[in-house]
Amino acid sequence: MFASASVNGVPVEVHNEDGAKRVVVTKNLPGERWLQILTAAGCRVEVSQHPDIILDNATIKKLIGDKCDGVIGQLTEDWGSELFEALKAAGGTAYSNYAVGYNNVKVPEATKRGIPVGNTPGVLTETTAEIAAALTLAAARRVVEADSFMRNGHYKGWLPTLFIGSLLQNKTVGIVGAGRIGAAYARMMVEGHKMNLVYYDPYPNTRLEEYIKKYSELLRHSGEAPVAVRRCETVEEVLREADVVSLHCNLDDNTRHLINKERLALMKKDAVLVNAARGPCIDEAALVKHMQENPDFRAGLDVFEDEPAMAPGLAQLPNAVIVPHIASASMWTRSGMATLAAANVAACVNGLPAFNQMDISAYLEAPIASLPAAAPSIVNAKDINMKVL
Ligand SMILES: NC(=O)c1ccc[n+]([C@@H]2O[C@H](COP(=O)([O-])OP(=O)(O)OC[C@H]3O[C@@H](n4cnc5c(N)ncnc54)[C@H](O)[C@@H]3O)[C@@H](O)[C@H]2O)c1
Repeated sequence: MFASASVNGVPVEVHNEDGAKRVVVTKNLPGERWLQILTAAGCRVEVSQHPDIILDNATIKKLIGDKCDGVIGQLTEDWGSELFEALKAAGGTAYSNYAVGYNNVKVPEATKRGIPVGNTPGVLTETTAEIAAALTLAAARRVVEADSFMRNGHYKGWLPTLFIGSLLQNKTVGIVGAGRIGAAYARMMVEGHKMNLVYYDPYPNTRLEEYIKKYSELLRHSGEAPVAVRRCETVEEVLREADVVSLHCNLDDNTRHLINKERLALMKKDAVLVNAARGPCIDEAALVKHMQENPDFRAGLDVFEDEPAMAPGLAQLPNAVIVPHIASASMWTRSGMATLAAANVAACVNGLPAFNQMDISAYLEAPIASLPAAAPSIVNAKDINMKVL
């Protein structure tokens, strides 16, 4: 049950009208558990119904208004000094991004004002890795081109030369950023297709390496060819060696345009490049040019440099598979993200500490009355002297 209202001219759905803390949610979120968590924490929840898909700062400031304890915002919003100042002035003590990545948040601006910034790690890993795997297969085996060929009535019969793509089995997969999602994707490709793995990450992922070494032993014991894993010293090494390269690093000043004209030139002519990280990790105009000049080079893209726009020419490339930033779009993940974002805000508006542990399953499964009395993931907890469990 909810009531409809308007905040400074912006339509909202109001849940738990009598809640003492006012929490603004800038977009409708899936599932019910997140609302139950905020309600149980004594929050009145106002969910924006503004028709714009991406809210500008002026609209978000209207939603924040004069009194606002916390906000759940989106990765499409620009959370910097202007919005954190508005939130601070309204008495806000909590912000959570509805995402694991938070490159849209200028965390120092929140820290300066003592506002905790939450994110939602732990529920996106497998779902995002699965879309990267789907894009890899779709690009390597030309699934989208072939689908459109069928729909357009061009199929006149089986031919030995129709839509020949690349086999993944026993080839080399390269990962840039072997964190949670990169490692999950690596396991899918290594176990599913017996691929060898090379990766670049400033930090070694010894757990992943051990896992693959054990898997390789298992293959050897069952009479199959083993697989190899190696951490490379440079991104260039990965690009030269891999048949498939998938990006899973976070976006920051070091990874913006990590894939540029010069690095594309190092890749195999028939390589597959996948990006389910963040669009600006690739110089998209350079990628389009490279793919126009190298028709056997394929790409699978979930994210774009200037979303929702695409670089000129990209949509016309038959060798690109493009999907609209849906990597985390499974119901389990999207409702889990809502649960974690709500738990972040519910805890912070009530002055509770941060949980900040790898295993967040307690938030997803436990009865609401027995959730950990802490915010699942606060990225600036230490910087604002917030207690961490
Ligand atoms: N497309 C989507 O919908 C979607 C969904 C979830 C996450 N993501 C993106 O995926 C990213 C990774 O998520 P995660 O949960 O695996 O995060 P994570 O923090 O576990 O992993 C990121 C890894 O990138 C590495 N890294 C940092 N700088 C690097 C560099 N210069 N070169 C190579 N590696 C570098 C880090 O050391 C870390 O191991 C997020 O930051 C987010 O932007 C996208």
